Amino acid sequence: MTGSSRTTFYITTPIYYVNAEPHIGHAYSTIVADVIARFHRLSGSETFFLTGTDEHGNKVVEAAEKSGETVKAYVDRISRTFKEAWPKLDITNDYFVRTTDRNHQDTVREILSKVYAKGDIYFSDYEGKYCIGCERFYTDTELAEGKCPIHMSEPQLIKEENYFFRMSSYQDWLIDYIDKHPDFIRPERYRNEVRAFLRQPLEDLCISRPKKRLSWGIPLPFDESYVTYVWFDALINYISALGYPEGERFKRFWPVAQHIIAKDILKPHGIYWPCMLKAAGIEPYQHLNVHGYWNVDAGKMSKSLGNIVNPLDLAAKYGLDAFRYFLLRDMVFGLDSDFSEESLVKRLNADLANDFGNLVSRSMTMAITYFDGLLPAPGTLDEVDISLKEAALKVIDDYEGMMKEFAFHKALITVWELIGRANKYVDTMKPWAMAKQRRERLGTVLNNIAELIKVVSVLLWPFMPQTAEKIQHQLGLGVVGLEVDLASLREWGGIRQVRPISKAPPLFPRVKRQKEEEVKEEPHLVSLEDFQELDLRVGIIKEAEPIPGSKKLLKLTVDIGEERSIVAGLANHYQPDELKDKQVIVLANLRPVRLMGVESRGMILAAEDERGVHILMPDKESKPGSIIT
Ligand code: MSP
Repeated sequence: MTGSSRTTFYITTPIYYVNAEPHIGHAYSTIVADVIARFHRLSGSETFFLTGTDEHGNKVVEAAEKSGETVKAYVDRISRTFKEAWPKLDITNDYFVRTTDRNHQDTVREILSKVYAKGDIYFSDYEGKYCIGCERFYTDTELAEGKCPIHMSEPQLIKEENYFFRMSSYQDWLIDYIDKHPDFIRPERYRNEVRAFLRQPLEDLCISRPKKRLSWGIPLPFDESYVTYVWFDALINYISALGYPEGERFKRFWPVAQHIIAKDILKPHGIYWPCMLKAAGIEPYQHLNVHGYWNVDAGKMSKSLGNIVNPLDLAAKYGLDAFRYFLLRDMVFGLDSDFSEESLVKRLNADLANDFGNLVSRSMTMAITYFDGLLPAPGTLDEVDISLKEAALKVIDDYEGMMKEFAFHKALITVWELIGRANKYVDTMKPWAMAKQRRERLGTVLNNIAELIKVVSVLLWPFMPQTAEKIQHQLGLGVVGLEVDLASLREWGGIRQVRPISKAPPLFPRVKRQKEEEVKEEPHLVSLEDFQELDLRVGIIKEAEPIPGSKKLLKLTVDIGEERSIVAGLANHYQPDELKDKQVIVLANLRPVRLMGVESRGMILAAEDERGVHILMPDKESKPGSIIT
């Protein structure tokens, strides 16, 4: 397909709040979007893939305040961690949007002006219960025993004058639209959820925050003393990034827009966004694709539980492709899944190292042993060869249908059935037994297998791009990745090599299963934010004295910009006099404790080895109270 007749495809991820660094949940949505984008590119579509960061709202301001940076410096830094993480996961987004971008802010104001001019925005009093975690108001019926069902925390009661979007007047239109477009929101369980919600009268949406309460946001074009509610701002990213209204991209890609989100943000995407679009005179998106949650230790991931799973660490430990494969194979799109490293290792060993890796390595080895890697043209195909070929052609069709439906785990199961079949074909054909007397037949069989491996490599390219490209290179194909497209796969009949098949290390080395205790002994990694919570400072010891009744403890008076009394277990290693006037490093925000009746407010850092304890100090004299970063 060429020129303007080419089909188009547009896929988006949620834009992530910059109040935390990327974790496995963000990685999953973004990898799903990458897989689907790559699949559409393989199918010959012109594809636009968007991700980005959501940088306004209370939640972000709170996180910035904690970090001690200015809001701007903070959002720039965290946004960068997202932007820089994605290439490390082989994400091929075409654009990265930030809600602090000038053109995004202009688009938000343009839409607001349009909807305001239409009479769909009015000013009124409001009292409601607001969850900062979700950045939205909750109705009493939505709350679980008075608490937000997602964050299990009590919402804040907010009463103030604000601007409202007349969402209620779009309720009937939305119900009708969803009924006429049954796959507008999919899978079905989420469409049902939205439909159930729409059985209650829809309230108008509060779309502003007074600047005196929240100044970090986009000012309303018709009242500069208010900023835009973060969701009204964020959802518009999906069109601002396309250059709405006049941009060529908007015209090409908006009509085929598909969003990916998890179930936590179904309401803003399934209800607010279509109503906003309708009010602004823009066609609704084509599909909202909703997935479930990755749970860890049978529950939610959370900073306070310390069970946040870092995608970059996993990719580094097990290989990026194995990680991507696991995420897409283990989660049924739409349902929740439990994450564990153990199941990742199981999949890696069974599906990747055993089934797939072995098929590739033994086939390539035979091609090198018997034909120096250059396969002869195939002879006539026997029935068993034809049946393998037909199985492969059927898998290509099934796979296409499943990918379009976001049934990734099914698509992978189908491909693995084909891999299993190919392994059986090798077992029963026993090519090694043909080497002496039946060389022509041997050539045909190895050709058939090589063709099948090529097909599998292309089908797996969206999921495991590096592996697919390695295989295609090893097979001696002149083209890798995109240039072998889905349509050309159906022309079965002898692979076209431009180089002989080459030796290569195993695609997926087996991973030894770690025992539970070993896993627990792994170093626990902390984030930069965690580290920044520590208040480390330079101090100078003003006085040191023994504590009556204690052999180990000394009472130190330390100047860290202010005077502190600190109890330290140094009596066996230092004489009190030796310590006087020494510079030290102090952890200043350690919770105070009383030891042997003496209050201790802080901790002196020291190193320990077989010769004893040695206190740490700056290598040049530093001012007491200097911050350690
Ligand atoms: N900023 C809003 C989205 C605005 S879109 C216009 C937001 N950001 S978020 O950082 O909280 O990201 C939520 C999204 O991250 C989820 O919808 C999902 O895509 C992904 N996930 C976060 N945690 C997740 C899991 N534990 N499991 C799976 N995906 C999850 O909401």
